[in-house]
Amino acid sequence: MSDPMRPRAALRTAVVWEVLQDALERRVEATGRQALDVLDAGGGSGNFAVPLARLGHRVTVVDPSPNALFALERRAAEAEVADRVQGVQGDARGLFDVAERGGYDIVLCHGVLEYVDDPAEGVRNAVAALRPEGVLSLLAAGLGGAVLSRALAGHFTEAQQALADPNGRWGAGDPMPRRFTAGQLTSLVEDAGLRVGAVHGVRVFADLVPGALVDTEPGALDALLKLEAAAAEVAAFHSVATQLHVLGETPGTTGV
Ligand SMILES: C[S@@+](CC[C@H](N)C(=O)[O-])C[C@H]1O[C@@H](n2cnc3c(N)ncnc32)[C@H](O)[C@@H]1O
Repeated sequence: MSDPMRPRAALRTAVVWEVLQDALERRVEATGRQALDVLDAGGGSGNFAVPLARLGHRVTVVDPSPNALFALERRAAEAEVADRVQGVQGDARGLFDVAERGGYDIVLCHGVLEYVDDPAEGVRNAVAALRPEGVLSLLAAGLGGAVLSRALAGHFTEAQQALADPNGRWGAGDPMPRRFTAGQLTSLVEDAGLRVGAVHGVRVFADLVPGALVDTEPGALDALLKLEAAAAEVAAFHSVATQLHVLGETPGTTGV
């Protein structure tokens, strides 16, 4: 039986997963090691960590939430990868209290910069966790996507407020502490000493399309996934994506 949650999950993660898998494959080829060392900063309950471990990589998840780490442990055990997933309690600021400086081939920082006190420090620490040749995978909420979705829902004043707010928030009730433009994210990555390998827009259309349309129209989900993949690469759509993904590479990285 198909998993009813799978399609929605695929819409959220497909583009990032594709880019990430590609980067992993290139690092495997360049290093000659089948199992890479991955740090998932703010990795939560393992949405990425567990699939990465299933590919054979060793993943350290640093997260401040004991509940998330508990869920991670359970998911890793269910997926029979508990020996390759290590969850440790910590945060982006105190990353090196619990993680190794310069010890990872790939560092993930997905959905975390929105919550940290100092995003620049968060990115600097993520970069400092990389080996001399390494890749940073950065995913964060996009400003334009929020403005567009508030406007299309008829909340025009909130949409305007998000545009004007330095943190991209549409009001006091906005659950997201901070959003970013693609330019802000690429600057954070470059200021931390990496070169930007690629920028992708994530969920350009998925959050705007009525769910019923995707769920009931035959072939609609696959077509939407393909459209998302195509639009993700086009810079014009980055400004309206719900999330933005930036791949950063250390200057000496080969095979990327
Ligand atoms: C939106 S979830 C993303 C989880 C996971 N990275 C993913 O993509 O599924 C945000 C995560 O960031 C964690 N977090 C919040 N503040 C943090 C901080 N200062 N340093 C590191 N992680 C933090 C939360 O506990 C939560 O697990």
